[in-house]
Amino acid sequence: MRVLNLSDNWLFTKGNNEFCIEKEIDNGEHITLPHCFNAIDGQSGDGMFKGECCYQRKLNISNEDINKFTFLEIGAASIICKVYINGQLAGGSECGFSMFRVFLNPFLKAGENLISIMVDNSSHDDIYPLMADFSFYGGLYREVKLIISEALHFNLMDNGKDGIYLTQRNIDKDIFELKINGKIVNELSDPKEGKIQFKLISKEEKIVFSKILDVKVLKETEFCLVEEIAKPNLWEGLENPYLYRLEAELYYEDKIYDKKTIEVGFRTIEITPDKGVFLNGKAIKLNGVSRHQDFAGVGNALTKEHMDLDMSIIKEIGANSIRLSHYQHNDYFYTLCDREGILVWAEIPFISVPTTSDKENKNAKDQLERLIKQAYNHSSIYCWGVQNEITIAIENETIYEMVKELSHMARKLDSSRFIAQANIHSVANESSLNELTDIVGYNLYYGWYYKEIRDLEKRLDEFHKTRPDIPVMVTEYGVDTNPKLHSYNPVVKDYTEEYQLLFHNNALKTFNERAFVLGGYVWAMFDFGSEIRNEGGEKGRNQKGLVTIDRKIKKDTFYLYKAYWSKNSFVKLAGSRFVNRHKELNDIVVLSNLENVKLYLNNQFISEINTSEPMKKFNDIKLTLGKNIIKVEAFDDAGNIYSDEMILNHVKEIDESYILLKHEDEKHVVNWFEKFDLSNVQEVAIKEGYYSTFDTIEKLYENEQAKEVFRKYFGEVAKSQQFKVMKGLMTIDSMSKRSRFNIPKELLSAINRELNVIAKKQD
Ligand code: GCU
Repeated sequence: MRVLNLSDNWLFTKGNNEFCIEKEIDNGEHITLPHCFNAIDGQSGDGMFKGECCYQRKLNISNEDINKFTFLEIGAASIICKVYINGQLAGGSECGFSMFRVFLNPFLKAGENLISIMVDNSSHDDIYPLMADFSFYGGLYREVKLIISEALHFNLMDNGKDGIYLTQRNIDKDIFELKINGKIVNELSDPKEGKIQFKLISKEEKIVFSKILDVKVLKETEFCLVEEIAKPNLWEGLENPYLYRLEAELYYEDKIYDKKTIEVGFRTIEITPDKGVFLNGKAIKLNGVSRHQDFAGVGNALTKEHMDLDMSIIKEIGANSIRLSHYQHNDYFYTLCDREGILVWAEIPFISVPTTSDKENKNAKDQLERLIKQAYNHSSIYCWGVQNEITIAIENETIYEMVKELSHMARKLDSSRFIAQANIHSVANESSLNELTDIVGYNLYYGWYYKEIRDLEKRLDEFHKTRPDIPVMVTEYGVDTNPKLHSYNPVVKDYTEEYQLLFHNNALKTFNERAFVLGGYVWAMFDFGSEIRNEGGEKGRNQKGLVTIDRKIKKDTFYLYKAYWSKNSFVKLAGSRFVNRHKELNDIVVLSNLENVKLYLNNQFISEINTSEPMKKFNDIKLTLGKNIIKVEAFDDAGNIYSDEMILNHVKEIDESYILLKHEDEKHVVNWFEKFDLSNVQEVAIKEGYYSTFDTIEKLYENEQAKEVFRKYFGEVAKSQQFKVMKGLMTIDSMSKRSRFNIPKELLSAINRELNVIAKKQD
């Protein structure tokens, strides 16, 4: 089997160009893969292109290779994709985050062939994500490979990756069972007698076992080998991510036809509802961050270098877990997690709103199948996430059913891992949704979208009290932060670095003080493209990252986490971008994992703190007008000195550039209903046969009068793209349960007074 990388010599053209299915593109742009056609506009906030584009390339097939078996492997194409060979449709995919393969033989000829790949990132009402807070970048944004195979090979076309699945089970104290199963395919009609040689090899190149299976392959043959491994070196997370490698060689008449090498780490993971997580029997807190797959200027077309950089930043902070949200990521990133010892929450984009046009929910299932089959062999993955905030518009039985189906399916595909979900805060602790998965995550934004920072603790304690048997964690928490903005008195929605510090320090304390909280996933490790956003002084971005989207600025909170999590000694002064200080007395915040720190002002020792608190504060440091040099030194037990320095400018006037002038709060309109008179509103007893706040907006829109009532109250909401996606699901009543719409109870009665007199057509 030969695998060729087809990353170069592509032509690209934007827009609906059906002619390029068959004909060569005239004035195409020369590009190399990976490629994203929203690299810039997907992060600009000025509207992004959505539609069909064409990628084209020639492919020469030799006279010898035409007799072989040829597959095109597309790492991912966003969001839907059709592959044409010499003008004929050969295959495609509607799973924009997964790898897929196309069998090319029926369409190829010896000599020159034309590959045309149409990629479409426009919205479809049955393809996920339907709606989400991230840009739906379009492109052929991962590697494309050509696989030229002999007649006999490990299965390439089961929606998986290797055609081999490794399942481990801890059967006794330190004995593991490794099941190796899969399928061999014979492309020819005559049966073939083959052999598979399996070898498990340690990092030190010692052979743990070597076994040969004889296989007779007619068309397809399944194989299965189960081996016991006594006392393997364990995969111990960050401390020692020990990996073995399994080599599987497929022989026919003493010639190797196919070969796979798969890394595997042996570990046990236990999740409890009261004591948290145990990795190989050792208690650990999931110190996690969430990551999207995009980067400034390239959209989602990340190279290995981008991914290596991301991993190095995540390692620097000391995280031991990553939520790879909200979809399947590049296989290379899961591999990095295996190798670096990072536990992974992997998930599908069954997010925000479910489809109403496909009762089978096929696309979510397809994406789940591909994620699990393709990422199955990554030992770092501990759970499969089946939904994220899927009840954002409404919570009902239909959605429960969908989640239940996905959970069952995940369990069937992989019984060795946990099933998980990430709920929006409005899902009640008592909700039966919480019973559908092994792990329940809540995305909690207390102190940002609603309530106060400290309400996080209350909510977690209440959950645990109500649901003592359900393992819970915080799958998202964070605040938008623009590192240009600063304040002496940080408050919610000021977007300052100082507010981000307060918010996260509280969250970390909250998790650490509660053994039952499995951990948390910071939302988010990096700022990311979100075309719908325009807030905090930046368009087109979600700025909740600890690091900016170009990975250039590590916000102060990055170092707060590092101080909590990392074992590598360091010290960092917070507020270094808050240069112009108009107050004479300033609190100087120091972030460090060392206890003893000393502060110097203009080279003079000021004072010293000894505390294990990661965030330490020197109060009321008196600055002199003009330039002040602040220096901090920290000491480890071995006597090593670590230091950091910053310059603060004491100025007379407040520096206005640190303050967000306009509170653009389009998403969360405050008291927008004040223009309606809600005094003396009486509750209305709802009459059957007439419209009410319990009808979906789509239903209200069927009647001109009812539509008018809706538009009178929610005209602004109706303009947004998200609203269009939610129309079929959302009722005014369900909107009123979402804090971001901020609908008072009296308003519901007022609306019902107007709606509940409009008769529905009898059908
Ligand atoms: C949600 C959602 C994220 C989103 C985040 C936010 O909870 O799951 O995708 O980006 O909140 O509002 O920042």
